Amino acid sequence: MSSAIYPSLKGKRVVITGGGSGIGAGLVAGFVRQGAEVIFLDIVDADSEALVAELSKDAAIAPVYKRCDLMDIDALKATFAEIGDVDVLVNNAGNDDRHSLADLTPAYWDNRIGCATWCSRPRPWPAA
Ligand SMILES: NC(=O)c1ccc[n+]([C@@H]2O[C@H](COP(=O)([O-])OP(=O)(O)OC[C@H]3O[C@@H](n4cnc5c(N)ncnc54)[C@H](O)[C@@H]3O)[C@@H](O)[C@H]2O)c1
Repeated sequence: MSSAIYPSLKGKRVVITGGGSGIGAGLVAGFVRQGAEVIFLDIVDADSEALVAELSKDAAIAPVYKRCDLMDIDALKATFAEIGDVDVLVNNAGNDDRHSLADLTPAYWDNRIGCATWCSRPRPWPAA
C-alpha cells in the first residue's frame, strides 16, 4: 500500500496518548513513517513494548514508550517535564468502553473525562 509523506513532520516531536493499542497504535505507526520523533504514553506494557519492537525495525527514529497513567497528574507532569518541548500532541486516549446510562456514576464520568482531557490542559498545571 502506498502512503503520502509529509516532509514538514520529519523530526517533529510528536506525543500520542493511548498509543499502545487500537487507533493510537495506528497513529504511532503513521507518525513514525513520517520520520517524526514519536513518544507515546500508555499503561499497557506488553502491547506498547511489542509495538516499539515492531516499528523500530524500519524506523528512521524509533518510537519511545513511556508508561504514564493519564489520570495520575503527578506522573503526567513528570512525564512531560522529561519529554520537554512538544511539536504535536495527539490526545487520543479515551477509554470509552460501552456501558448503559443507568451504570453511569460520578466516578466513572470523572475517570473517562479526565483520561481524555487532562493531557491537553493549558500549562502551567493547576496546583494539586
Ligand atoms: N474505536 C472506535 O470506534 C472509536 C470511534 C470514535 C472515536 N474513538 C476515539 O478514538 C480514541 C481511541 O479509540 P480506541 O478504540 O483505539 O480506544 P482503546 O480503548 O482501544 O485505546 C485507548 C488506549 O488508551 C490507553 N489508555 C486508556 N486509559 C489510559 C490511561 N488512564 N492512561 C494511559 N493510557 C490509557 C489504553 O491502554 C489504550 O491503549 C478514543 O479517544 C476514542 O474515544 C474511537
